Amino acid sequence: MPVPRDFDAFFAANASRIRDELYQFLRIPSVSARSEHTADTARAADWLADSLRAVGLQTTVHPTAGHPVVVGEWRGAPTAPTVLVYGHYDVQPAEPLDLWHSPPFEPTAREGKIFARGSVDDKGQLFLHVKALEAHLTVRGSLPLNIIVLAEGEEEIGSPNLTPFVETHEDLLRADAVVISDSSMFAPGLPSILSSLRGLAYFQIDVQGPTTDLHSGSYGGAVINPATALARIIASFHDDRWHAAIPGFYDRVREWTEGERAQVRSLPFDDETFRRETGAPILGGEAGYSTLERIWARPTIEVNGLLSGYTGEGAKTVLPSLAMAKVSCRLVPDQDPAEIERLLQAHVERVAPPGVTVKITHLHGGKPWRASLDGPLYDAARRALAAAFGREPVIVGEGGSIPVVGDFDRVLAGPVLLMGFGLPGENAHAPNEWISEENFDRGMRAVAMLWEEVAKTGL
Ligand code: BES
Ligand code: MN
Ligand code: MN
Repeated sequence: MPVPRDFDAFFAANASRIRDELYQFLRIPSVSARSEHTADTARAADWLADSLRAVGLQTTVHPTAGHPVVVGEWRGAPTAPTVLVYGHYDVQPAEPLDLWHSPPFEPTAREGKIFARGSVDDKGQLFLHVKALEAHLTVRGSLPLNIIVLAEGEEEIGSPNLTPFVETHEDLLRADAVVISDSSMFAPGLPSILSSLRGLAYFQIDVQGPTTDLHSGSYGGAVINPATALARIIASFHDDRWHAAIPGFYDRVREWTEGERAQVRSLPFDDETFRRETGAPILGGEAGYSTLERIWARPTIEVNGLLSGYTGEGAKTVLPSLAMAKVSCRLVPDQDPAEIERLLQAHVERVAPPGVTVKITHLHGGKPWRASLDGPLYDAARRALAAAFGREPVIVGEGGSIPVVGDFDRVLAGPVLLMGFGLPGENAHAPNEWISEENFDRGMRAVAMLWEEVAKTGL
C-alpha cells in the first residue's frame, strides 16, 4: 500500500520550508564534548523544543547536571498506545576542519546529499520524526496514537545524565514501545531494521614511570620506560589470532545461532568493496568469523588513542615520565560493562611490568542490545518501510552503540525498534558527514506511515 496521498501532498507542499528549518537546526554547533559549545548545545535544545511546540507537542526543556533533556508530549488519544521517540541533538566535534569541503555548520547540498555535522547523526534523523508528526497534525488534525519525544544532548559523550533521567522520570516516559532513527540502511534503496547494537566500555590507561622526563642517555636502560610498558600491556590484549586475551572476556558472550549467521550471509555484502572503502591493505580480525560477524556479533578491545614522549619535529632523546592510552571495548549480549571493567583491571594488574604504576579510569559505557524482531511494532515497521521505499526491509546488525537503549529495555517494558535512514559512506563522526536528501524524504514518509500502521493494529 502506498503512502497516503494527503501526506505526499503535505511533504511536497512544505519541502522548502522543511529544508530551511533543517538547515537552521544544523547550523547550531551543538558539540557536547566541548565546553566552549555548552551555550550552543543549550541553544539547540531550545530550538528543538520550539520546533516541537510549533508542531503541537507540549514541550519541556529539563536541565541536567550536563546538557538538557527535551521532552515533547502529545497525549490526545487516550485509548491508543503510547510510543516514545528517542534521538539526540548533540553532535561530534567537527575537527579536522581543513578536510571539510564546505563548513561543517553551514549545511550545503551537493549531488543529492546534505553535508553538515549532525546531518545524519542524529539531528537530521531526529528532525524527520518531528516533521512526520507535523504531517499528521496538519493533515489529520490529530495523531492516531500518543507520542513522547525524548531528545538528549549527551549521546556522543556516553549519555551520563540520561540514564538517571530515565530512571527518575519513569511515569513521564512510560510508553508501550520505543522508536529510534539513529542508524543506517544497509545499502541505498534497502530499508533496514536493526537486530542488535553493541555495548561499550571505555577506559583511559595512565602509566607513570619516573616523576619527570629524563635524559634518555643518562638514565635510559636503568629506568623502566612507561611507553614501552604501555606497549607491552596493549600487546597483551590479543593473541596472535586476534582473539581478545583477557581472561573471562568471552564468558558471557552469546554465540549467534546458525540461523542468525545464515541470515547475515544472505545480505548483499562484499569484503573487497568494504576493504576498498576503508583504504586498509587487508581486512583482519578475530579468526573464525566473517567481516559482518566480527562487527555485529563479536566483542572487541581497541586502542582509540595513544600518547607518550616526544612527538614534535625532529628527534629528542628523552625517556618519558608518562604514557597514556584510550582503550574501548565493544560488547555483545550478555557482556556487562561493569564486569568488563573488573576483568580488564585484573588483567592489566597481572601483566604490567614492575617499575611503573598503572591507573585505569572508566570513562563511559553502555549495555549491548538485541531486538526481539517480532510482534505488532515490527510488523508495522515492515509495512511502513515497504510503503515508503517500495522494498521490503532487511534485518541487519550494528557494531555501534547507543548507550540508553539497554536502559530502555530495563526501565520501560515495551519493544524497542531501530529504523535508521543513514547510508554506508555517510561519514558520521568524520569530515563531510551527509544525509541523503532522498532518504530524509522517504524517512519522513516511513515514520508518518508507521504511526498509521501502529494505530491500525495496536501494540
Ligand atoms: N548513531 C550512533 C550509533 C551508531 C553508530 C548507529 C554507527 C549506527 C551506526 C551514535 O551517535 C554513536 O556514535 N554512538 C557512540 C556511542 C558512544 C559515544 C558512547 C558510538 O557508537 O561510538
Ligand atoms: Mn547517533
Ligand atoms: Mn554518533
